[in-house]
Amino acid sequence: MCGIVGYVGPRQAQSVVVEGLRRLEYRGYDSAGIALVDGGRVATAKKAGKLANLEKELADHPLPESTTGIGHTRWATHGPPTNANAHPHLGATRRVALVHNGIIENFTALRTELEDSGHELLSDTDTEVAARLLELELLAGGDLTTAMQATCRRLEGAFTLVAVDGLDPSRVVAARRNSPLVVGIGDGENFLGSDVAAFIEHTREALELGQDQVVTITRKGVAVTDFDGTPVEGRRYHVDWDLSAAEKDGHDWFMRKEIHEQPRAVADSLLGRRAPNGELQLDEVRLSDEDLRDIDKVIIVACGTSFYAGMVAKYAIEHWCRIPVEVELASEFRYRDPILTPYTLVVAISQSGETADTLQAIRHARAQRSWVLAICNTNGSTIPRESDAVLYTHAGPEIGVASTKGFLTQLVACYLLALYLAQVKGTRYGEEIADVLDQLEAIPGHLERVLEQREHVYELARRHVGARSVLFLGRHAGYPVALEGALKLKELAYLHAEGFAAGELKHGPIALVEDGMPVLCVVPPRGRDQLHDKMISGIQEVRARGAHTICLAEEGDESITAYADELVRLPRVPVLLQPLVAVVPLQLFACELATVMGHDVDQPRNLAKSVTVE
Ligand code: F6R
Repeated sequence: MCGIVGYVGPRQAQSVVVEGLRRLEYRGYDSAGIALVDGGRVATAKKAGKLANLEKELADHPLPESTTGIGHTRWATHGPPTNANAHPHLGATRRVALVHNGIIENFTALRTELEDSGHELLSDTDTEVAARLLELELLAGGDLTTAMQATCRRLEGAFTLVAVDGLDPSRVVAARRNSPLVVGIGDGENFLGSDVAAFIEHTREALELGQDQVVTITRKGVAVTDFDGTPVEGRRYHVDWDLSAAEKDGHDWFMRKEIHEQPRAVADSLLGRRAPNGELQLDEVRLSDEDLRDIDKVIIVACGTSFYAGMVAKYAIEHWCRIPVEVELASEFRYRDPILTPYTLVVAISQSGETADTLQAIRHARAQRSWVLAICNTNGSTIPRESDAVLYTHAGPEIGVASTKGFLTQLVACYLLALYLAQVKGTRYGEEIADVLDQLEAIPGHLERVLEQREHVYELARRHVGARSVLFLGRHAGYPVALEGALKLKELAYLHAEGFAAGELKHGPIALVEDGMPVLCVVPPRGRDQLHDKMISGIQEVRARGAHTICLAEEGDESITAYADELVRLPRVPVLLQPLVAVVPLQLFACELATVMGHDVDQPRNLAKSVTVE
């Protein structure tokens, strides 16, 4: 996600801020900018592209000297990565400059309010709305701190805001709700950062902010309040990580960090999806309800992990919308002469938005006049640009080559799309849709509980170092999870791993099972159908042939204990949503096994993060 830096002290703020932004480059970004307070005004510079572009701009058009400044690297969410959309954003009189990380959920309503009162906004961003509001509050009286408190009381969603006031070089003010921000405490100087990497070369003393807090840094000190202005205490701590660990939030791999970011990524992907009347809203889906109503077939095209998200989507769309869904490997799609009509919706799922196979598939679909909707994590990438509509996942940049939070947020986007189609087509009642949204909103909490079992899963993984081959079994929406678990193990641990639909075992694959072979089983929740019991029969079959069964089963399912050599508990969720919680132990398992085997988890051999060749 975006990187944020703030500084006040005796040094030249420009070099401290730009250096801090460089330390945050690992987070991924597509534009960068800074603002410095300069004798009664703010001076800014911002540029699309890499930090080098900003540095060139600063060399060509130097900003005045200043010892108070803020900076930002932007990962585009609202609006493409352009100079205009880059941060900082300014208030109408250019007195205030503000940078932001997160998503302001009520931004449309606030933007309309500003436009109705005569504001002409210069960008597509939710950030500019916050900058305008902040400046209006400041002009109404008080200082930047009280203006920030008042502004935050009006904002919904997740945000870190950092701002400077051109008339007050003594302070930088920041706020956070559901989005990261840490304070670096120096001697006669203080810092702000999205994480400690931003200032670790200057100080290792840090202050952690709580939820819904505003912090003011000056040369002399740090003051924290809640959004109502009541003083509160932040938690001070000493950072003893080296820089590379700091970038990974203390984890050894980006992948492990990204696995742990999944509760946040899922929550972000769900932000702003409920309209004030309670209906599901997907603003970015630019297809009209009329066009969506006419859709009579959905074809999902994707590769690898994204393809498995598409397999889960098939279960959800067919169940909720009663529209036939085909899921096709993008690399195969156009070569089989698929039947495409103007009533076909082709859904392209791609984390990177640059996968060549998926891109060629959507070009083929559009040439046949079908609608194309992209589910993508990378704003401004080629696949969304060439699609009729796009639904962005909000995972933030995924750096580990093996997809984790990308996958979970793709699942969320698929569920949202399925529910939206059901709403438009009237195949499900509003109450039922609201009910599923409630269940989805509970997922981040469930994920935290799954992650609490990490040490148990790591221990299981370590016990299976040396296995020659590992099988994964699932049924229904758990089948793609089994495939994904096997893929993770193949790419990270370079092990032979296969995922199967448990019902298929007896039709051939069971011949693979030998004494001691680890078999990971995704057990469906107990329900009215017979899925759960049939899965138990499958587990019995492999166990009878010597397999060592590691079962992932919901809490309270005692019927599984007799057949599980090892057990990992999953929170109770409906079968359609179970992939969201069931895949996490499989990610942890593969990450740990590969680590113990001495492999590079973030950069597995022979693999690239985005595959731009067919
Ligand atoms: C596996 C993995 C790949 C990608 C695939 C598609 O961990 O990351 O299988 O899922 O290459 O990539 P995107 O989603 O960028 O199109």
